[in-house]
Amino acid sequence: MAITVETVSRMQLTADTLRREGKRIAVVPTMGALHEGHLSLIRLARKHADVVVTTVFVNPLQFGPGEDFGRYPRPLPKDIMAAADAGAEYVFAPSVGEMYPEGFQTSVHVEQLTARLEGAVRPGHFRGVTTIVAKLFTAIKPHVAVFGQKDAQQLAVIKRMTVDLGFHVDIVVGQTVRERDGLAMSSRNVYLTESQRKEAPVLYQALSLARDRIQQGEFRRATLVEEMRAVISGRSSASIDYLSVADAVTLEEVEQLTPGKDVLISLAARFGTTRLIDNIPVRP
Ligand code: PAJ
Repeated sequence: MAITVETVSRMQLTADTLRREGKRIAVVPTMGALHEGHLSLIRLARKHADVVVTTVFVNPLQFGPGEDFGRYPRPLPKDIMAAADAGAEYVFAPSVGEMYPEGFQTSVHVEQLTARLEGAVRPGHFRGVTTIVAKLFTAIKPHVAVFGQKDAQQLAVIKRMTVDLGFHVDIVVGQTVRERDGLAMSSRNVYLTESQRKEAPVLYQALSLARDRIQQGEFRRATLVEEMRAVISGRSSASIDYLSVADAVTLEEVEQLTPGKDVLISLAARFGTTRLIDNIPVRP
């Protein structure tokens, strides 16, 4: 059974004690509704630390107006059991009032990296993410933090913040866990209707096609994007928010790929009101 911690002060005391005992602490931040993707990160964290803290907090700051904050799934008791089974000793599950008490008005913002892709479509989203992750780092005092490749831009933004603010935290990356048909696991997949769920693997099919085409020597961004668009439009009713072929570090679009220079192929698409994102990193 994992120990559930609900306040920042209790979490800090616990972290101080663990550090005094010489324990290496890993944190796996989540918004709960844990699936196999999250659990793989907890197992990965285990390999990097003596003690694993999973956080479960649906962070209101990173949801825009009209997004799914209200209906986001919150199966906390189930999450605590699943986190413990995967190897977490602690689950930090504070209330909104605990993280953002009356009068709260400070935020952490990463500039250029958040201007494009998800940041362009979801204004304020990354400010919410970096603010809560910074607060989780100060509450848990981790040596290691594990994040998923699934949210590639979030990962880049958090790495930048960690360096810029001098957090002494190693960022470890877990690979994207997928359903058998290729759909990336996500807490939001439960919103899909049966027919949308059948179409959703088209996103991974499009990304995989782009990866294969790059490996065959297709280095033109415009062609890759066009081919991905054709796959998605031909096989689904999804509406595409963006298709991106970007530098893996700066996330700037690259018109012509360079051999050996890593790129990130990423996309976002809506099935009805459900918005899904996915990506594949590729070395041309
Ligand atoms: P959440 O969407 O719950 O995701 C928590 C972590 O799980 C993130 O690092 C995410 O990249 C990872 N993850 C999600 N789906 C995955 C999959 N299929 N395979 C592998 N890893 C996966 O991301 C957030 O929460 C929040 O923005 C958070 C960082 C917790 C800040 O609130």
